Formats: sequence, structure tokens, C-alpha cells
Amino acid sequence: MVLFAPEGLALWRSPLSRAIHRNRSQAHHRFFQLATVTPAGLPANRTVVFRGFVDQTNRLKMITDRRSEKIDHLTQNNRAEIAWYFTKTREQFRLAGSVETVTDQDVMSVFSEERRRTWQNISDNARLQFVWPDPAIARTSDLGKFSPPAPDPDYPVDNFVLLVFHPMQVDHLELRGNPQNRWLYRQNEVGIWQKLAVNP
Ligand SMILES: Cc1cc2nc3c(=O)[nH]c(=O)nc-3n(C[C@H](O)[C@H](O)[C@H](O)COP(=O)(O)O)c2cc1C
Repeated sequence: MVLFAPEGLALWRSPLSRAIHRNRSQAHHRFFQLATVTPAGLPANRTVVFRGFVDQTNRLKMITDRRSEKIDHLTQNNRAEIAWYFTKTREQFRLAGSVETVTDQDVMSVFSEERRRTWQNISDNARLQFVWPDPAIARTSDLGKFSPPAPDPDYPVDNFVLLVFHPMQVDHLELRGNPQNRWLYRQNEVGIWQKLAVNP
């Protein structure tokens, strides 16, 4: 059966929000894998922390360091995929979409204030990592460089990047049940989300 969402929150938003809520007792429920495409066309995957939705929308927030490789990938190709497995309820969400990078340069971005708010909301320890020595180069022997002065908790440092993920397609697999349940969510040509139950 195909269902239509009139407007506002996408049809997959409430199953995803429900999964987040039901798995909240497990700290790792906030971790998912974000896959990008390298300039050579190869896949690159890593774990990141879900930082919530942008207000009451379908967009997911993540944070990263401007110096990280994923920024190079996203600058050339903003398409990405999230794979998110919830161990308690045994369900997987795969979200395919695009990522908007919001840096210190994007002062006119509608997400500029969101970037600042997100910086203010992360822990002191998390903020500190953005002023650590450059990632992915030979290990720095001066460990003092990993204890720099704490950055201003009000104003994000230049290395701090907000990633805003815009889902275009969602694949929800529920392992519970025999046969398992699987739903595909897609947008039609006028952007209305549709839900289709498919074979697992
Ligand atoms: C549990 C966990 C959470 C992580 N959260 C983040 C995160 O929110 N943002 C981030 O940029 N990297 C995070 N990392 C580190 C990334 O997995 C990755 O090592 C780093 O971002 C460099 O990736 P890149 O070189 O592909 O850009 C996390 C790693 C783990 C294991």
C-alpha cells in the first residue's frame, strides 16, 4: 500500500524518532555510520554522533572538523548515506541524501545560528578536539598540544563544521518478525513522501 504525507514531517520521521526514543537507554543509539564518496569515486565510511534534528524538520545534524577528509569528499560530492542500527529494537534505517556543510564562512546560511547553538551545546571536551593538532598526520610527540587553552564556549572556532543531512530516500528494516518488515520511503516528483511496504 502507498501512503501519502500531506506536508511537514516526512512519513519516516516518526518511526525514526520512535526508534531513537525506544533505544535511548543504550548510549550507542546516537552513533551511526556516514558514508561519503572520495574524489577518486571510492566509498569512505565512518561513525559519527547524531546531534538531533534541525528544529522540527526532517534534517539531521552532525558535527565535524573542517580538517577531516570527509569535508574534502563532501566539497566535491555532497551525496552521502547514513546506516543506523538500533540494537534494542533490532531495526535499521538507511538514509540516502545530501549533506550541507556549514562553516565559519557561511555567515549567510540559514544554518549559521544553528552552527553556533550546536557549538554552545557540546561538552568542553568535545570543543577541545577542534583545536587539537591536525588529524591524520604523523602522531605529535608533544602531548601538551592536546591540552590547549579551552576555546570560547560561545563562539565556534573556525575548524568547527555543522553538517546538515537532507534525506532523499529512507529504507527501514525491522528484523523483529518472520518475515521481517521493510519499508521504502521516497519522494514523488512534487516532493511528497511516499511509503511502500516491500519484501525484506
Ligand atoms: C563512537 C564514535 C563517534 C564519533 N563521532 C564523530 C563525530 O560526531 N564527528 C566526527 O567528525 N567524527 C566522529 N568520530 C570519528 C570518525 O569516526 C572519524 O574517525 C573521523 O571523523 C575522521 O574521519 P574522516 O577522515 O573520514 O573525515 C567518531 C568515532 C567514533 C568511534
